[in-house]
Amino acid sequence: MPDLPALPPGSVIGIVGGGQLGRMLALAAGRLGFDVAILEPEPDSPAARVAAHVIVGAYDDPAALKALAALAQVVTYEFENVPAGAVAQLQAMGVTVAPGPQALAAAQDRFAEKTFLNANGAPTVAFAAADTSDEAVEAVARIGAPALMKTRREGYDGKGQRWVETAAAAARVFAELGSVPVIVEAPADFARELSVIAARGRDGATAVYPLAENHHENGILRRSLAPARATPALSDQAERIAARVLQGLDYVGVIGIELFELRDGTLLVNEFAPRVHNTGHWTQDGCEVDQFEQHIRAVAGWPLGPTAAIARVEMLNLLGEEANAWVRLAHEPETRIHLYGKREAKPGRKMGHINKVKPL
Ligand SMILES: Nc1ncnc2c1ncn2[C@@H]1O[C@H](COP(=O)(O)OP(=O)(O)O)[C@@H](O)[C@H]1O
Ligand SMILES: [Mg+2]
Repeated sequence: MPDLPALPPGSVIGIVGGGQLGRMLALAAGRLGFDVAILEPEPDSPAARVAAHVIVGAYDDPAALKALAALAQVVTYEFENVPAGAVAQLQAMGVTVAPGPQALAAAQDRFAEKTFLNANGAPTVAFAAADTSDEAVEAVARIGAPALMKTRREGYDGKGQRWVETAAAAARVFAELGSVPVIVEAPADFARELSVIAARGRDGATAVYPLAENHHENGILRRSLAPARATPALSDQAERIAARVLQGLDYVGVIGIELFELRDGTLLVNEFAPRVHNTGHWTQDGCEVDQFEQHIRAVAGWPLGPTAAIARVEMLNLLGEEANAWVRLAHEPETRIHLYGKREAKPGRKMGHINKVKPL
């Protein structure tokens, strides 16, 4: 990362992506005195409506990127599929992009991601890559069925992945996933799914949040409980993993690392997201400095803030029509409401979340 002085309040921070994560980053940036510029192809996006500057354009549109570079000295993003070419163009115009291209490259490809993790002492399930149907059959034979086949790129919320129940089904599942490059994973026989949200500043300092315990339904995060019940040994393991990942990526910003806790108490890394993370939303009402402000502090070159829990939180995503219950929710004294301002409540769409807060 180039040696940039800390950004003073009044500066503009660029954010690629206009969804709810961009919106909550923009709100946190505003609290610290920054303006944000949002780059997003959809007009009227959740983030755009709380932003000082909005550029409506494709993420890789050279004119849009030029406009962003004219406004912002530092650019970050709310999703991991920012095109590598866009980052290169921004950097060529003298813009600092954080987290950097190394983190994006690893997070965009499940095979590169797991290879990076293992090389940096962060354990994962056994895995193998396959580009063709024959290689997919071979990969399942090597890993053993049942196995999970996932597209290497562009999967999210459980999309782009299927179980292969028997070796004989490998070719069919490969075709069902679109005959694109895949990764075949051994099943993790986990007791719980956990996540650790962590941050690294431009000076290399790190900060780690308490663990969250996460529950998914139909591939979508439903609920997080935090701080998760954890022995000191379990928290130490998670902190070690976070430190290795942050260091290995020469990372700047907040990262979300998804973990499997095996029945013997060992942690495996499932995947990481080089951005603020849905399982870190509890920090808004449960921690001293939340993940959104932390990310802004990191990319702006400010000192990281403290991450200790100040409350116990149950975070619930509001999907589709569930957000219509805002009146009832507003009557609950323990409930903090976070709505994203999305115009249309499609089924399964993340419309908001609530944090139910209890004393520690
Ligand atoms: N190797 C695995 N073994 C068992 N369950 C898995 C494995 N990989 C993923 N899962 C389950 O599928 C969910 C989604 O997979 P993940 O790799 O996190 O994809 P996404 O990018 O869609 O979040 C995980 O949260 C976990 O519940
Ligand atoms: Mg995941």
